[in-house]
Amino acid sequence: MCGIVGYIGTKPAQQLLVEGLKRLEYRGYDSAGIAVIGQSGLSITRAVGRVQSLEDKLEETGSLEGTLGLAHTRWATHGTVTQANAHPQRDDTSGICLVHNGIIENYAAIKTYLEEKGHQFSSETDTEVLAMLIGELYEGDLESAVQAALREVTGAYAIVVVCEQEPDVMIAARKGSPLMIGIGSGEYIVASDPSAIVAHTTQAFPLENYNVVKLTRDHIRTSTIENIEVTPRIMQLEMDLGQIELGDYDHFMLKEIFEQPSALSNTFRGRLDKKSGKVVLGGLDEFAKQLVKAKRVIITAQGTAMHAAMIGEYLLEDLAKVPTECEYASEFRYRNPIIEDGTMVVAVSQSGETADTLAALEEAKDRGALSLGVINVVGSTIARETDAGVYLRVGPEIGVASTKAFTGQVAVLTLISLFMARRRFMSAEESSALLKQLELVPDKIERVLETADTIRTLTEKYVHRENWLFLGRGYNYPTAMEGALKLKEISYIHAEGMPAAEMKHGPIALIDKGMPVVFIANRGAQYEKVMINIEEVRSRGGHVIAVATEGDTQIKSIAEDVMYVPDVPEALSPMVTVIPLQLMAYHAAVLRGKDVDKPRNLAKSVTVE
Ligand code: G6P
Repeated sequence: MCGIVGYIGTKPAQQLLVEGLKRLEYRGYDSAGIAVIGQSGLSITRAVGRVQSLEDKLEETGSLEGTLGLAHTRWATHGTVTQANAHPQRDDTSGICLVHNGIIENYAAIKTYLEEKGHQFSSETDTEVLAMLIGELYEGDLESAVQAALREVTGAYAIVVVCEQEPDVMIAARKGSPLMIGIGSGEYIVASDPSAIVAHTTQAFPLENYNVVKLTRDHIRTSTIENIEVTPRIMQLEMDLGQIELGDYDHFMLKEIFEQPSALSNTFRGRLDKKSGKVVLGGLDEFAKQLVKAKRVIITAQGTAMHAAMIGEYLLEDLAKVPTECEYASEFRYRNPIIEDGTMVVAVSQSGETADTLAALEEAKDRGALSLGVINVVGSTIARETDAGVYLRVGPEIGVASTKAFTGQVAVLTLISLFMARRRFMSAEESSALLKQLELVPDKIERVLETADTIRTLTEKYVHRENWLFLGRGYNYPTAMEGALKLKEISYIHAEGMPAAEMKHGPIALIDKGMPVVFIANRGAQYEKVMINIEEVRSRGGHVIAVATEGDTQIKSIAEDVMYVPDVPEALSPMVTVIPLQLMAYHAAVLRGKDVDKPRNLAKSVTVE
């Protein structure tokens, strides 16, 4: 949510910053801006719209010369989408200029104070308030002015700040929102995530909460906002450029859908000991005893990760026999939740930065729960805050609509469930059999991907319809929810996902002639019940599109269209049944001419409440 990038070094900053913004554009894309300090002082260019609009404007108005600068791509929180509200924002006295990701919660009170001091505001943003506050406190040392200002603010921020009066200094700071500092030779690149850094250096460190870093071309100093010096933990970024480039694909979403077989093979690599039936998860070893004794698990997440969490609830109860519930992090954190002895909280998040999920995790930890992370981004805040965890290993996900992270999350929750199950009640035979099946999942996904063209043709038949239902039972009730979410978030078709039987309690009133109703109807314990629900839809004129198991001929006679998937044990089936739904959503969005990778109003990583 908002992408920020800063550069200080010897190369022309503009090109580097714009390239960085393009990599971060998935984080927000309603306006963009850049500021560079050069011989002629501070120059700022801002534009409403995508990074491309900013580039067009720079082309028209001429390049910004200088080797130090900062840039921003915005997802609006305070203030409408206008050029005046775009970042960078600057103060009115001291030549302070900053970009910001987050929300300054007490901005109104600070604004009143600054207005009383005579400052004139030209935007509606909380960011301008912070720029003015730093300017107000500036006495010739940018680092101390930033520290002093941050001691006054509440809320979340990742900021990069420069000052016209100190043209060789760049300051960055964070609380809540992520910020990575890349260390090159004679240069530093600061960015919201590593994708904007790896083209320049693989040495980096994540800035910790309440930390401030002062960068000059040959020196780096990290301190707290109280000015106590700290030593950052430098790490090696493992991302390679190929992973974050489109290659031959039209969209990142399609690339990521097709990456799922290799991504999941990576998730499983070295973790399945089929002989003993044990799952090997180095990150959990230290806590194995606590996991075995866990009395209750709460899984918390948002968005697609929540749907994976819901599948995790079925898995943990079914396989590991531990009472489990899932809860939206945004609700959990404010609900005064009861955490008893033996409660384990699992935070599921692709980015590891979702503000609500992080806050729910902190709440659970404060109340004494053991915390686990199921996270994709290595070194992200949630990954660092949890007691232990398991990484997805599916590689960077750029498309705003999550696909490979979903299957990766379900895969890891399956691994955790089996890790606990085998150490609790499950026999080696039963566990080994499941592990063997799990290993086959990537190939089975591959087989579904081979039907992508058929799914496109099928989607063409229904793409003009504005209301869809997605129905499933048991393990595939959350899959139905995920299918509906995928469709609505990128094609703007109204879709609802729910348990198939719930349809009778209201939503059935929506079914009219030709309404597409997607059933997840693979072979499983509730197959016959799903057939009954399909008949109920058909008798009201709905058009049934079924996801069914290969070889199921019965379903052909009652569904208008069938998308076949290979046979998989029910507990593992969501990783396979979701694939046709992802492809359908993708094709629907393309057929409707929507911007698949940057759907309106959305951001990949929601770092505000
Ligand atoms: C946003 C994204 C979703 C994602 C959700 C949770 O809403 O658009 O795709 O599922 O955040 O993100 P996380 O990074 O915590 O998995």
